[in-house]
Amino acid sequence: MSESLVDAAPRRLGSRSVGALSFGCWRFTSRDIGEAGALLDTALELGMNLVDTADVYGLDWNGTGFGSVEALLGAVIAERPARREAMVLATKGGIIPGVPYDSSPGALRSALDASLARLGVEHIDLYQVHRPDLFTHPEVLADTLRSFIDSGRVSMVGVSNVTVAQTRALRAHLGNALVSTQPEFSAVHLEPLRDGTFDLCMELDLTPLAWSPLGGGRLLDDNDASVRPELRLALDELAVREGVSRACIAIAFVLAHPSRPLAIVGTQQPDRLRELARAAQVQLDRTDLYRVIVASEGMPLP
Ligand SMILES: NC(=O)c1ccc[n+]([C@@H]2O[C@H](COP(=O)([O-])OP(=O)(O)OC[C@H]3O[C@@H](n4cnc5c(N)ncnc54)[C@H](OP(=O)(O)O)[C@@H]3O)[C@@H](O)[C@H]2O)c1
Repeated sequence: MSESLVDAAPRRLGSRSVGALSFGCWRFTSRDIGEAGALLDTALELGMNLVDTADVYGLDWNGTGFGSVEALLGAVIAERPARREAMVLATKGGIIPGVPYDSSPGALRSALDASLARLGVEHIDLYQVHRPDLFTHPEVLADTLRSFIDSGRVSMVGVSNVTVAQTRALRAHLGNALVSTQPEFSAVHLEPLRDGTFDLCMELDLTPLAWSPLGGGRLLDDNDASVRPELRLALDELAVREGVSRACIAIAFVLAHPSRPLAIVGTQQPDRLRELARAAQVQLDRTDLYRVIVASEGMPLP
């Protein structure tokens, strides 16, 4: 085996250092605050110090509605205030069900105020525009986001689910204040490798935050028809060689790209968080990584 390309060292996010694995809160909908707190504690103790949520989380996964995940996270943080500064608290705004996207100054200001109140914090470390609002000029959006930073309520800003051109347009007006982009990326969703997203990250020094790094669990479901059986087989053979689970190999695949993505993991089970942390020990070389890509796409590379 030649050199392993898996890079599990902390990433730089603007002025902060963040673990290569991050704790995602989309499914953080427990009714038991003790259980929710224990899960957050486990994530932080494993080095998953970036905690990613959104105002809209709580509408699915048996949540109780818009804002309910931020409210739960706020309650959990209130019980352990000493943890707050160790966390890089990331949330998102800009989705309004029924609109569905509004990044106008008034809408985003209201969204930020509401997120701060639900989370019970003075400032948010990373505020992300959840999905692009096609009807807000990037200069207007940049002015709004800059005003959040100038007011001290937000430390850094990022985007999510955007095209390369949308990111470039915002960056032209916002400059280095834009630190991250959050695309979907996993062994079963490879678009950022070739649609310019990761290339732009390397060009502009943005940190990619990969959402659903296990394909939302599809990579672990042997009956999911959207995942090629060859991909599961490739991941399983590498898992046997490396002495870890299939999930760990899938996370290690995400960590191997030179744009240094971090993987936002979504499990709500502490034992699975511990298992995923073992991805840091996995060694994958170029041959392994290209094998995963070919198995995922079902097409030989030229
Ligand atoms: N920006 C966006 O638009 C966007 C969209 C989606 C997600 N996100 C972010 O990305 C985060 C992660 O997304 P995700 O939850 O879809 O991520 P994921 O880690 O790809 O999937 C997690 C799901 O896989 C399941 N799973 C099954 N077997 C597993 C195993 N062996 N190990 C770990 N998990 C296993 C988990 O169930 P259990 O809980 O039972 O383990 C959970 O339902 C979200 O929390 C959110 O912060 C962002």
